[in-house]
Amino acid sequence: MTPTAAPSSSNPTGTLSAGTLPILRTVEDLRSQVAAWRREGLTVALVPTMGALHDGHLGLIRRGRELADRVVASVFVNPTQFAPHEDFDRYPRDEGGDAAKLASAGCHALYAPTVRAMYPQGFATAISVGGPAEGLCGTFRPQMFGGVALVVTKLFLQALPDVAVFGEKDYQQLMVIRRFTRDLDIPVRVEGLPTVREADGLAMSSRNAYLSADERARAPELNRALTAAAAALAGGAEVDGALTGIRGRIAEAGFGTIDYVELRDAETLEPVSAVTRPARLLAAAWMGKARLIDNVPVIPAG
Ligand code: PAF
Repeated sequence: MTPTAAPSSSNPTGTLSAGTLPILRTVEDLRSQVAAWRREGLTVALVPTMGALHDGHLGLIRRGRELADRVVASVFVNPTQFAPHEDFDRYPRDEGGDAAKLASAGCHALYAPTVRAMYPQGFATAISVGGPAEGLCGTFRPQMFGGVALVVTKLFLQALPDVAVFGEKDYQQLMVIRRFTRDLDIPVRVEGLPTVREADGLAMSSRNAYLSADERARAPELNRALTAAAAALAGGAEVDGALTGIRGRIAEAGFGTIDYVELRDAETLEPVSAVTRPARLLAAAWMGKARLIDNVPVIPAG
């Protein structure tokens, strides 16, 4: 294994030095690290990310530490989950900063493969997920869940962790990952963690960096509208009226295109027209150049 550290001005080649987080660049390095932990009888958690880490991600690391003896985070901006017109090129990248944050959160290793290592010349495999991948973001970003399924399956098979931790902020993604992990008999437990929010309720997201100061001030209205409607729905409010109310409220706050505002079953993600069992209220809408997504639980009263 040849662990390296994040390249920086003082360490341009990224060679490991004492006290830095090991950075693993190849699947061989990753497997060798995990095998060493396994020989010591240790359990392993994987936290897949696309980097530009914030406190939400660090919460996933901390949860990983509660669930396993060792935590490896992956940072990989996965090209297969972006359509050509989407923000793959401008997606924020800061490996040095990410490595420092991971180390401070107690992460034990960072897996940061190159695109060529993950998708070598001649790569020709795709994964298609139905069920929870249908509708919602699956309609507006048709490329996304196939790409997520592909890269997460690869990461699971590369690391073979005991458990993997994902945020509920990407609730549909979490349900899709649970689905294909079960369907493909991948022996990894998938754990979801509630969304980590800023003090004003905005869900933490790497894409919040695209917001201007004015847009940032308006953005929390998405969560406020969802939270108020969830309370009304739990108390028996009529679904169509509640969804229309959310649309009006966020449009008023300055959101532009609203991709969707929907109520779905919390487990299957099938559309529901009344709250008789746990449901989820999900929305995606554009604020300037940022496509913001959020979701909240709706638990029937009584
Ligand atoms: O949620 C993300 O950051 C990504 O979609 C994931 C799960 C790391 C796959 O690229």
